[in-house]
Amino acid sequence: MEPSKEFLYKHKGFYLLPDLTNPEYIDSLEHFVVRDSDVFVVTFPKSGTVWMQNILSLIYYEGLRDGTAKTETIDRVPWLEYNFNKMNYESRPSPRLFSSHLPLFFILQVIYVARNPKDVAVSYFHFSKHASIFEKVPDFNILMERFLSGKVLASSWFDHVKGWYTHRADYNILFLTYEEMKKDLRSAVLKVCDFLGKQLTEKELDVVVEKAVFDNMKSDPRSNYEDKTCILEKGRDNFLRRGTVGDWKNIMTVAQNEKFNKVFNENMKDLPFKFIWDLN
Ligand code: A3P
Repeated sequence: MEPSKEFLYKHKGFYLLPDLTNPEYIDSLEHFVVRDSDVFVVTFPKSGTVWMQNILSLIYYEGLRDGTAKTETIDRVPWLEYNFNKMNYESRPSPRLFSSHLPLFFILQVIYVARNPKDVAVSYFHFSKHASIFEKVPDFNILMERFLSGKVLASSWFDHVKGWYTHRADYNILFLTYEEMKKDLRSAVLKVCDFLGKQLTEKELDVVVEKAVFDNMKSDPRSNYEDKTCILEKGRDNFLRRGTVGDWKNIMTVAQNEKFNKVFNENMKDLPFKFIWDLN
C-alpha cells in the first residue's frame, strides 16, 4: 500500500508534506544564506526533535528558563523546510536556531539526534492517529512495511542516518541518540553546550534539564505543538505521547521484529558506527 498523495509528495526522491511546503520553496533553499552562527537540529521524524528544540531554546533564551517568555519553542527553532508561520528567516537575529528533516544539505552546524528505528516507527504509527498532517494508517504492519521501504515522511530512516553519518566530516556535527538523552539528560545537555561553546552556570543547567524532562515538557504548552492545529487535530492528544525507550516491544510481534532486524542488518551492515541501542 503506497502512501496517499494527499499527505506526502516526492520531490527529488524525498518525501515531504504537501500542505506545508512546495517544490519551489525546497529548491529555493539552495540559495539560503547560512550564517556561521546558525544551529540546526536534524532528525528523522519521531526521533526526539521537539525535545532537542526545547533544550536548545532553554540554553539560548533566559526567558524560557525563568518562564517569562511567551513564544512557543517551535517558533524559536522553526522548520527550515516547513515555514508554516511564514517567518522571514533572513531578518531573524543571530544566532538562528532551525530544525530540519532534510537529508544531507548545505547546513554547517548540526546536532543530529537518532533514535532506535523500531521506536521511531512505533511513535510514527501512534502520531499518525491524531496528526492532521499524517495519513491515518489502519494497522502497524502496513506502517512498518512503509517505514522499512522508505515510504514515510523524510523517506528512508536508513538513508537518513547513514547519509548524515557518512558525511560527518563535511559538517560541524554532534551526533546524539534519544536513548543517551533519556539515560543521562544532564550529560547530553552538557555535550550540546560544549559543542555550541555555551557556558551555563550549574543553576542554569539545572533549569534546562528540569524543563526538558518528559513530564514537564508535556504539561508546558510552549514546549510542544499543543496550539498548532496545522499539525495536531484540534482537541486530540498532546504531541508528547509516552517518551520511553523500547515501546516497540508493546506492539511488534515476533515475526515483525524478525523482519525489522533483517532489513536493519541488510541496510546498516556497512556502517562502522555502532549505535548505543541494543536493537532487541
Ligand atoms: P513517543 O511517541 O515514543 O512518546 P519528534 O519530536 O521528533 O516528533 O519525536 C517525538 C517523540 O519524542 C515522541 O515519542 C515524544 O513523546 C518524544 N519526546 C518528546 N519530548 C521528550 C522528552 N522530554 N523526553 C522523552 N521523550 C520525548
